[in-house]
Amino acid sequence: MVTSLAFRLTKRFGAKIVLDDLALEVRGREFVTFLGPSGCGKSTALNLLAGLLPPTAGEIRLDGVRIDGLPPERRGFGMVFQNYALFPHLTVGANVAFGLAVRGLAKAELAPRVRRMLELVRLAGLEDRYPGQLSGGQQQRVAIARALAVEPRLLLLDEPLSNLDAKLRLEMRGEIKRLHAELGLTSIYVTHDQTEALSLSDRIVVLRDGRVVQAGPPAEIHDRPRTLFVADFMGYRNAFPVTVSSAEGDTVVGHARDVTLRGLGVVALAPGTAAVAVVRPEDVEVAPEPAGANVVRGTVRFTEYLGREHGVEVVLGTGQTLMARLPRPVTVGSALALRLPPERVVILPAEDGAR
Ligand SMILES: Nc1ncnc2c1ncn2[C@@H]1O[C@H](COP(=O)(O)OP(=O)(O)O)[C@@H](O)[C@H]1O
Ligand SMILES: [Mg+2]
Repeated sequence: MVTSLAFRLTKRFGAKIVLDDLALEVRGREFVTFLGPSGCGKSTALNLLAGLLPPTAGEIRLDGVRIDGLPPERRGFGMVFQNYALFPHLTVGANVAFGLAVRGLAKAELAPRVRRMLELVRLAGLEDRYPGQLSGGQQQRVAIARALAVEPRLLLLDEPLSNLDAKLRLEMRGEIKRLHAELGLTSIYVTHDQTEALSLSDRIVVLRDGRVVQAGPPAEIHDRPRTLFVADFMGYRNAFPVTVSSAEGDTVVGHARDVTLRGLGVVALAPGTAAVAVVRPEDVEVAPEPAGANVVRGTVRFTEYLGREHGVEVVLGTGQTLMARLPRPVTVGSALALRLPPERVVILPAEDGAR
């Protein structure tokens, strides 16, 4: 059982810095997710932790002991990949037993352990099948069973749900969450999908160009993004350039040509600073009055039916587009006043700070 993992890693491929002194501490039983766009270094980070790639510089400590000199099989980690990476010529049972055999577990102990692992991932009785005879979802369960069979000190998962269809993805997400809790695992999970990160994690680490841009519990990343990059990634699709009029405690007021917007300030902003007010389409409401605090007016340009709600694009007087999700339909061409609830607006520095 791990009580803590701490690492600090730099990785270069030629002149390209892929991980730039990426440092983190993970507690035992924690579920940490690396969230970021394609190419930000997520897989590279996992591969360094697993020992599949050597770091350019840095160290990895497990319960205070350096392990970055150890080969993968001596780190005692389990790894699950996006493409399952099962051995096609081995049976399901042999795939699950693979890591155990490598570690020299006695033959008599193998079969019961394999059986238990397959029960755990709800594939009891499929020992003798071959991966090619299984669905994608079943293959990923086998890959998870294989990773768990070694009783990993750390479970590393690299976009394990990306190749599954939407329904299976939801189901497997639940399974991963259940196994993590039931077995008391310590897990690092990699994804570019914000919903997966929110639903699974104790802590989300948002990466950009191989660096941490924000780390915190899911609700903090979701409700209090600290940069435009994180906000954009977390679905704040509406962004209005404003100038900061005042900032007091958590509340920032910004103004543009014909609107004043009140919102949450999560980083310090001095009056006069160029800032951006961001808000999610699903947080925008129809205004009860045509004017008032945080109310903007415009003309409906586009609508789409989304089942529970209606997607709406409104062109504001400034020429900017505002996207909203509204409970009732509106007519293209009609005038509409929308309210951006101050508790749902975040006002951020216009410059990201990051490169
Ligand atoms: N073996 C390699 N040689 C050169 N560049 C690589 C290699 N592996 C990854 N990269 C580069 O490192 C960056 C990060 O890749 P990766 O860790 O796979 O990102 P992610 O998993 O976040 O999509 C990318 O720009 C990628 O092209
Ligand atoms: Mg990747």
